[in-house]
Amino acid sequence: MVRSLLLGLTHHNLEAKFMKFFPKPNDATAPIAGVAPITASRIEVPPVSFQPKVVVPTLRYPSLDRNPAYSTDRAEKLFVIRDPDSKEVKTLVPTGDVLQGYLNYIFVFSDRQGNLYTWRTQKEHPEILPQIHKDLIGTGFLTNGGSYKYRTIEEQVNFMEKARQFNLRAITAIYTDKFGILSPFIPGITYHKYLLLGGITATKNVLDNIIRSHENNIVYGDRWAKNTIVQEDESIVEIDFDIELIGEIAQEFEMSQLLYHILLFSSRRKEMLRFLDNYLRENQTHLSQYHIPVVEKILLNYANYFADKPFEGISGGIKQEIAELIKMLSSYCR
Ligand SMILES: Nc1ncnc2c1ncn2[C@@H]1O[C@H](COP(=O)(O)OP(=O)(O)O)[C@@H](O)[C@H]1O
Ligand SMILES: [Mg+2]
Repeated sequence: MVRSLLLGLTHHNLEAKFMKFFPKPNDATAPIAGVAPITASRIEVPPVSFQPKVVVPTLRYPSLDRNPAYSTDRAEKLFVIRDPDSKEVKTLVPTGDVLQGYLNYIFVFSDRQGNLYTWRTQKEHPEILPQIHKDLIGTGFLTNGGSYKYRTIEEQVNFMEKARQFNLRAITAIYTDKFGILSPFIPGITYHKYLLLGGITATKNVLDNIIRSHENNIVYGDRWAKNTIVQEDESIVEIDFDIELIGEIAQEFEMSQLLYHILLFSSRRKEMLRFLDNYLRENQTHLSQYHIPVVEKILLNYANYFADKPFEGISGGIKQEIAELIKMLSSYCR
């Protein structure tokens, strides 16, 4: 699929900025020392045509009514948002970009001013489901009292609303119906790509936000660096709330999952470990909310389970790095 000029430029600018800062690894498609090249690119997706559907507004969530009360119908190639008197508020046109995740198609729309939006619709038959289940067993979540479910669209929107109430860094919903969720497009790169490019400092924003969420008993689910966007000023926005983690160790699991993927995707693991060392030392009080032996156990499980499997184009295990991280956790967070 041809990369649209608009999206292409957004990402190009940001990558150029990071290349300036990080002299060594600079192109996610080029080999990075010690890290096999990444295979997946968010923009390389098979063409999926926007399925025009004329939709009579169905669900209206009370939680969205505090914003200008939107109702909408999606006509062919247009996404028209109307106010309750049927006056047109916004007309969105598809840019032709479809960002594909494992569970959703993300259609990108633009308004007349050039602001971008995403319309997130669930795939009917995602192939990834058995793998997700297997990984949650292999990493010890399901075998230690945890369980999970897929949030419905309504539950995802409720989650977004709750996160907004707590001022967390989570994407917002502008409109939703039973087919999908309309959100602002967040210009930036995924945190996963940021780590591959050698970025480090946004990690503070990611961890601060997760810790604050957990302090408020909010667990995102599925925090593996690809569901986080890093913006040009290195502020972050969490997206993708498909998976709900349930159970007593949900927060410990989420923290471990995040820490594991930070080290896995980082192309500067030594520097990242040094950064984490400082971060953990400075945040000991916040980390006391976690049952640290559980975090350590899950980190070990992650390192062992994925040790021999190439993952997202990255080969080899990171047992050594995880061992160092566990040592830090033990010394600062008992
Ligand atoms: N609002 C958004 N702004 C910018 N990029 C987005 C947005 N929503 C999704 N994306 C991009 O599309 C990819 C897939 O979206 P995601 O919501 O994670 O779907 P999935 O659940 O299928 O993984 C993300 O990794 C991200 O790169
Ligand atoms: Mg995702």
